[in-house]
Amino acid sequence: MRFDVLTLFPDLFRPHLEQGITRRAFESHQVDVHLWPLRDFADDNYRRVDDRPYGGGPGMVLLAEPLQRALAAVRDARGGTPGPLVHFTPTGRRLDQALVREFAEGSGAILLCGRYEGIDQRFLDRHVDLEVSLGDFVLSGGELAALALLDAVARLQPGVLGDAQSHAQDSFSDGLLDCPHYSRPERLGSGADAQPVPAVLLSGHHAEIARWRRERALELTARRRPDLIAAARAAGALGAADERFLASLGL
Ligand code: ADE
Repeated sequence: MRFDVLTLFPDLFRPHLEQGITRRAFESHQVDVHLWPLRDFADDNYRRVDDRPYGGGPGMVLLAEPLQRALAAVRDARGGTPGPLVHFTPTGRRLDQALVREFAEGSGAILLCGRYEGIDQRFLDRHVDLEVSLGDFVLSGGELAALALLDAVARLQPGVLGDAQSHAQDSFSDGLLDCPHYSRPERLGSGADAQPVPAVLLSGHHAEIARWRRERALELTARRRPDLIAAARAAGALGAADERFLASLGL
């Protein structure tokens, strides 16, 4: 799949594409990322791509014309590869794992990272297919949101995570938050303060371990994100044993 990123700050992306477990997906071009510096599409010697808003007010607005030229160049380079134009903005649809999965199974997209006070609305009206938000807070631009999407998509590609099952266990993969994880040593620290690993995880009883993990995930999700429990119920993803467990907690 191919992602083309329109940004004023291409250097923000490079270190993230070259490190960590997702590096494999980017270096192998499994997730093929192309960076397009917006200033390359300015039409003056100052490489200017923003100006003051009509009607006055603070801040600057990204100009429609350099964006039109950049988009034409990207579409040309993508040839026949389809892909929506995605604009990152706090007013967009909240990014979640279901949307990440859609991108991970698609052929890519063009990612538009806004900056300043905004982008000329006429460009957005004419060209944008989807607006995406990272959450209910305001970033200084869309770059971190685009990186979040690229990272989440890359780790879902086959062969990127060491253990093929790792993302089956992720938070949200089955609509619930993930259970806690433990590794060596069996007892951390000493004396009255020591923290043991929950005994069931050392028992070797696979069914009991699976049940314990499920219950921890249910409990954490019910306490922190009751909205996700309601959604899992509506999707028929909770069984009778899950409901008995939640009822035993009064949740
Ligand atoms: N740009 C500025 N804030 C943003 C947010 N919360 N999500 C996505 N893009 C943004």
